[in-house]
Amino acid sequence: MAVESALSPRPASAREASPGRAWWIEPALTVICYSAFVIYATWSVFDQVNVVFYPYVSPFFSLWLGFGLIRVPIIGILLPILAAVPLGLRGSCYYYRKSYFRSFFWDPPACAIQELKRGRYRGETRFPWVLNNYHRYFLILSLITLVFLWADVVRAFTYQGSFFIGLGSVFMLVNVILLSLYTLTCHSFRYLMGGRIDAFSRVRFGRAWHRIAMLLNYANPRHGFYAWVSMFSVALTDVYIRLLMAGVIHEPRIIF
Ligand code: FES
Repeated sequence: MAVESALSPRPASAREASPGRAWWIEPALTVICYSAFVIYATWSVFDQVNVVFYPYVSPFFSLWLGFGLIRVPIIGILLPILAAVPLGLRGSCYYYRKSYFRSFFWDPPACAIQELKRGRYRGETRFPWVLNNYHRYFLILSLITLVFLWADVVRAFTYQGSFFIGLGSVFMLVNVILLSLYTLTCHSFRYLMGGRIDAFSRVRFGRAWHRIAMLLNYANPRHGFYAWVSMFSVALTDVYIRLLMAGVIHEPRIIF
């Protein structure tokens, strides 16, 4: 018996594959949330206002070198260049790729559903998709950015030389934890930390590498979840600090 005759024909469309179900809700929500985030982030970065409310700094403006001892000019040429790092990481992220190809381009909208434009996909050989090949470099740059974000969090718990806790400190801490989880569960990071090793028993510190690789294997399936929550936490932290700057809210603070 020919194998082909045992297989059911491929669904021609999402509607046929999920008759009577609101299959379009997830892609529609994805389009709305991603678009809203990109529009908000672009506005925030180019708003010509440094989103800083002592000792807080928005994650979009986390560019103060050396705990604020040296400040780099963040508006102008430098900021757009540095903004390309998180944008590049998320734009070339394997989870986001799946998500935006399904939701924005419907190419294809889900597994086992025909592509809309069959035969025109050229993989990652043409601009702009060829940029996805640079994901590992965006990852390395993002790991450096994380160091700045953590430095900002340390400063956010310090007020005039004293340790203190404000709601903004907590916002910033939660945000950097979520961003770290998103970055450290990256597929490229997993490869860097163990995927390239053929036999752990034959390399130095093989046991430690093996433990790290197992931990990342365990955490990796949650990468999509961290992608979503860290996107919201970045925007919410920025909004919170803007509200403080505008005097719309006054936060409770405990100074020790
Ligand atoms: Fe998502 Fe690397 S950040 S796969």
